[in-house]
Amino acid sequence: MNYDELFPKITSHAKEYGFVFPSSEIYDGLGAVYDYAQLGVELKNNIKTAWWKAMVQMHENIVGLDAAILMHPTTWKASGHVDAFSDPLIDNKDSKKRYRADVLIEDQIAKYESKSLKDTNKRAKKEGWEAGSEEYNKYLQGNRNAKKAQELHQQFEVALNSDDLDQLRNIIVEQGIACEVSGSKNWSEVRQFNLMFKTQLGATADSSMDLYLRPETAQGIFVNYLNVQKTSRQKLPFGIAQIGKAFRNEIVARQFIFRMREFEQMEMQFFIKPGTQKQWFEYWKEYRMNWHKALGIKEEFLQWHEHEKLAHYADGAEDIQFKFPFGFKELEGIHSRTDFDLSSHEEFSGKKLRYFDPETQESYVPYVVETSVGLDRTFLAHMSHAYQEEEVPNAKGGTDTRVVMKFHPLLAPYKAAVFPLVKKDGLPEIAMEIFKELKFEHNVMYDEKDSVGRRYRRHDAIGTPFCITVDHDTKEDNAVTVRDRDTLEQVRMPISEVRSYISKKLSWRDLLDW
Ligand code: GAP
Repeated sequence: MNYDELFPKITSHAKEYGFVFPSSEIYDGLGAVYDYAQLGVELKNNIKTAWWKAMVQMHENIVGLDAAILMHPTTWKASGHVDAFSDPLIDNKDSKKRYRADVLIEDQIAKYESKSLKDTNKRAKKEGWEAGSEEYNKYLQGNRNAKKAQELHQQFEVALNSDDLDQLRNIIVEQGIACEVSGSKNWSEVRQFNLMFKTQLGATADSSMDLYLRPETAQGIFVNYLNVQKTSRQKLPFGIAQIGKAFRNEIVARQFIFRMREFEQMEMQFFIKPGTQKQWFEYWKEYRMNWHKALGIKEEFLQWHEHEKLAHYADGAEDIQFKFPFGFKELEGIHSRTDFDLSSHEEFSGKKLRYFDPETQESYVPYVVETSVGLDRTFLAHMSHAYQEEEVPNAKGGTDTRVVMKFHPLLAPYKAAVFPLVKKDGLPEIAMEIFKELKFEHNVMYDEKDSVGRRYRRHDAIGTPFCITVDHDTKEDNAVTVRDRDTLEQVRMPISEVRSYISKKLSWRDLLDW
C-alpha cells in the first residue's frame, strides 16, 4: 500500500472502529464538523495529557489556564482579527460555488509539481537514473512543469504579500483554472471574507451585543496575562498554556479533520524580555519538534516550513509540517508575536499590561513567543502514522493480513485487553480479577467475545499494545500470556508481575526525558 493511498482508508477506519464520526450524521452531517467517538476521545485525551505534561509539568515557569470561549468583543478588534483575519474568496458565477482564491492557485502549483514528478520518474526509468541521484534531481528541478510551478509560485507570493486581490484573480484566469462543479472559468472578483463566527449575547434585540466565537485560544491568555503573572508570582521568562476549542468559518472544508470549523488548539504563550525573542524562538522550535518525535513520529514525516506571509502580529514564524497522506502540511506554528497583542490590549482597554523587571528596575510590555499546535491535526497525524497493513502468521501455518494501529503505547486508547481463552471453566473470573487490578492505573478492556485470534485482530486494529490471555494452565501456574502488538512476541509471566510489566512500558519519564 502506498502512503498516498492511505487517506480514504484512515477515514473509513476512523468511522468503522469508533474514532471519529461526522457530526449530526442522522441529518446528513454538518460540513467540516466532527464528533470524537469512544476510541477517539481516549486518543485525544492522551495527546492532551502528553502536551500538558511536556509543557506545564516539565517547566517550573509555565502554568495553565482555561479561559472562556466567549470574550469581550473588543478583544477581537484589539487582536486585529476583526480587520485582518480573512481569506480571499472567489465565486464561480455559473455554479455559485465559492472557493478560496489562494487554495485554487496552490492546487494549480501542486498539479504542476505532480506532473513534474511523473515526468521525472518516466525519464529516470528510461535513462536508468536512481531516485535522488544528481541527474534525477537536476531533471526534477529543471523540467517544463517544474519551471511552471516555480514561476507560478513566485507570482503568487508577490500577490499574496502585497494583498493584491486583483492579481490573485488574474492568476486564476491566466492559468485557465476551472470550477470543479460547472467546469466554467467564469469567475467573480476576489473579496476578503472574515473567518470569525458571530453570535449574540443577551435575549432582546436592543440589549444584545455581537460576540465572536474565538478563532484562536491565544487571546484568552493575553487578556489574563497580568492576573496570572501576579497571582502565580512568576518572573519573566514564563509561560501560560491552554488547551481549548477554537472556531473558524473555513470556506474550503475538506481533508476530514485536517481543516475543521470547530477544532481544538494547544497553545502556549511564553512572555519574555524584548530583545530575547530570537533565542526563545529557537528554543521552542527545538523543544516542540522533539515533542513530536518523542511521541513516535519518524523524522522523515516532519519538516520545517518558513512562512511566506507573516500574520499581522508576527516578526517570525515557522511551521512544523507533517507528511499527511495528501502531502506535507502544517501541524504546528511557532510564532514570534513581539509585543503586538499586549500593547494592543493596553491601548484598547486603557489598562497597563506591563512587567516590572526587578533586575533592571524597568517596566515594559513583554514580548511573546507562541507555540500553537492543532489537537485534531495531531490526532490525524498519529492516525496516519500508526496505520499499517501487515502479513502475519496464522494458526493454520499460512498468513493473514492485519490492520494494526501502531500508536505510541501512551497514546493508545486502551493500554491492554484481558481475555479469558474460553467463557467457562473459571477463566472469565480470573481475567476479570486482572482487569480490576489494572484499571486503577490504565484504561483496560475486558474482552471475551469470539476466538482469541479474532480478538487479537480487533485490538490490533484499535492499537491496543498488550493483550493478556488467561488459559487453562493459568489455573495451575497462576501465569498468563502477554502478547506485544508490534513484535507479536508472547511472554508468559506470573499474574503478580503483569501490573508492573505494563506500567514499565508506559513510562511518562521515558517519553518526556529527552
Ligand atoms: N494562535 C496562533 C494560531 O492560531 P494558526 O496557525 O492559525 O495560529 C495554529 O493555528 C494551529 O491550529 C495550526 O497549526 C493547526 O494545527 C490548527 N488549526 C488552525 N486552523 C485549523 C482548522 N480549521 N482545523 C483544524 N486545525 C486548525
